Amino acid sequence: MCGIVGAIAQRDVAQILLEGLKRLEYRGYDSAGMAVIGSDQTIERVRALGKVQALADCMTQPLLGGVGIAHTRWATHGEPSERNAHPHVSGNNIALVHNGIIENHTELRQQLEDDGYQFQSETDTEVIAHLVHREQQVRNDLLASVRFVAKLLRGAYGAVVMDSNSPDKLVVARSGSPLVIGLGIGENFIASDSLALLPVTRQFIYLEEGDVAEITRTSVYIEDANGVQVERPVQESTASYDAGNKGNYRHFMLKEIYDQPQAVRNALESRLADDHVLEQAFGTDASAIFAQVRHVQIVACGTSYHSAMVARYWLESLAGIACSVEIASEYRYRKSVVPEKSLLVTISQSGETADTLAALRMARHLGYLATLAICNVGASSLVRESDLAFMTRAGVEIGVASTKAFTTQLVGLAILVLSLAQHNNINPEQLKQLVAALKQLPEKLEETLQLAGDIENLAQGFADKHHTLFLGRGDQYPIAMEGALKLKEISYIHAEAYAAGELKHGPLALIDEDMPIVVVAPNNELLEKLKSNVEEVRARGGLLYVFADVDAHFESDDTLRVINVPHTDPWLAPVVYTLPLQLLSYYVAIIKGTDVDQPRNLAKSVTVE
Ligand code: AGP
Repeated sequence: MCGIVGAIAQRDVAQILLEGLKRLEYRGYDSAGMAVIGSDQTIERVRALGKVQALADCMTQPLLGGVGIAHTRWATHGEPSERNAHPHVSGNNIALVHNGIIENHTELRQQLEDDGYQFQSETDTEVIAHLVHREQQVRNDLLASVRFVAKLLRGAYGAVVMDSNSPDKLVVARSGSPLVIGLGIGENFIASDSLALLPVTRQFIYLEEGDVAEITRTSVYIEDANGVQVERPVQESTASYDAGNKGNYRHFMLKEIYDQPQAVRNALESRLADDHVLEQAFGTDASAIFAQVRHVQIVACGTSYHSAMVARYWLESLAGIACSVEIASEYRYRKSVVPEKSLLVTISQSGETADTLAALRMARHLGYLATLAICNVGASSLVRESDLAFMTRAGVEIGVASTKAFTTQLVGLAILVLSLAQHNNINPEQLKQLVAALKQLPEKLEETLQLAGDIENLAQGFADKHHTLFLGRGDQYPIAMEGALKLKEISYIHAEAYAAGELKHGPLALIDEDMPIVVVAPNNELLEKLKSNVEEVRARGGLLYVFADVDAHFESDDTLRVINVPHTDPWLAPVVYTLPLQLLSYYVAIIKGTDVDQPRNLAKSVTVE
């Protein structure tokens, strides 16, 4: 959730830390802080409520020093405030930043208070700073102290500690929250995401669960969970330095909406043959595993869950394979029965979402045939801990509201469905047509983006409304859900999605002239049914906005506005119809003046429960 960056160098590190924090702001942005060890071996600390820019504004005198840590926060314990912002300090010498949740913080706090420690914040994090301080009094060995303290903590953490009495090192610990070491020449770095460090290095070491490491300017020493020294591979990042910039776009979200044709092209690249899909995209063992699969369980959160819901329709209708879909936070705490020959699929943009990761770890012992991650971040925990993986190649997504991550997940799922269908007697001619439709998808998305002007004009009709309904049927029902999620996330308008056939069972009572209703209506086998549902709404005075195929023959009038979406193969309509709904929520948010890229109360990557 929170963003961490640290550096140890011969030069002053404050600017590096600040730039790193700006790049990590997507992880949380309610407060930020930084501490460096100055030349007189004292800790200097600045913290500010609000975004990283508020911290930068406070630093009229730059902090000077070659060792430092910094943090951008998404509050879990204690309100967003300067005193709850990290780094937290203990004594005059220990400073610490932390991402995650310490579940046993209350009992640790009590013990520390009994030992005479006074707490300055309401955070769970502060206990770690005091615990390290207490150990350092005895051990005077920062690595040993952190290793000892790590064993006292229950919960999830990625933490970086410095001690001004040992100003030549940073010590870091990872359990449940990602940390990556960046290697420089005569300088080294640490962050919760390599994106933060791209301006200073391309060489990364990803820490594993339970690792504790000591980082100096010239060395990296890592111990695993058993306290045994380990070498972790150095990986070269090919991510673009500018990946975190929005170019000429007003917001990251808008840029990412427009990135989608290329992102989908990237997701398809080298994964399709002329008349079939290449299962190796999922890993070398994929073919042998897919041949056995009789049931698929998909687990995900938020937008990623919506992509899973689309996949269920596809899997059962095209591959003839039973599929269940569940929200990760529910699945992980439920006793479930795993059908024979079942494949567990997790979907996540970040690959670090706590609930999804916990669901994967919990399910590992339930007898699944194999686990597969569909993910945008190759070095993520989810990918590393799964048997198979499909990289969605969306590129860095900064906007909290997920856009290109979703459409590329749908591409990954489409390829998965066809892979399983190939083992399940799909008609070769039908398979060839489905592959051909996939190849055309980027152009369809380009065409669809040309609707932006029309959609911007519609947005005004929503800006003064407090509630909206989104309707779809079949595989468009999850798209309606995703449209509703986008609108509520960034415009704060209450939005509900319904399978249109369900209207008459209750929600029809809500319909009046103050409730705009958005309908997604491609030309598929459910179109006539959907038209009847539209009439049910019209008859009760509802104002409808229908995104429809030209061939669907909707006519605009006083109560119904039609936006014609380019004709597309029905099986890929869920991908195409997503874009107008993203644009709609974006333009409504612009009119409302909300913070599009960093909506209130949310964070991009939810690495805590
Ligand atoms: C989408 O717009 C969200 N901000 C959110 O629902 C997100 O999809 C969810 O938190 C899951 O994240 P993940 O894909 O990184 O696992």
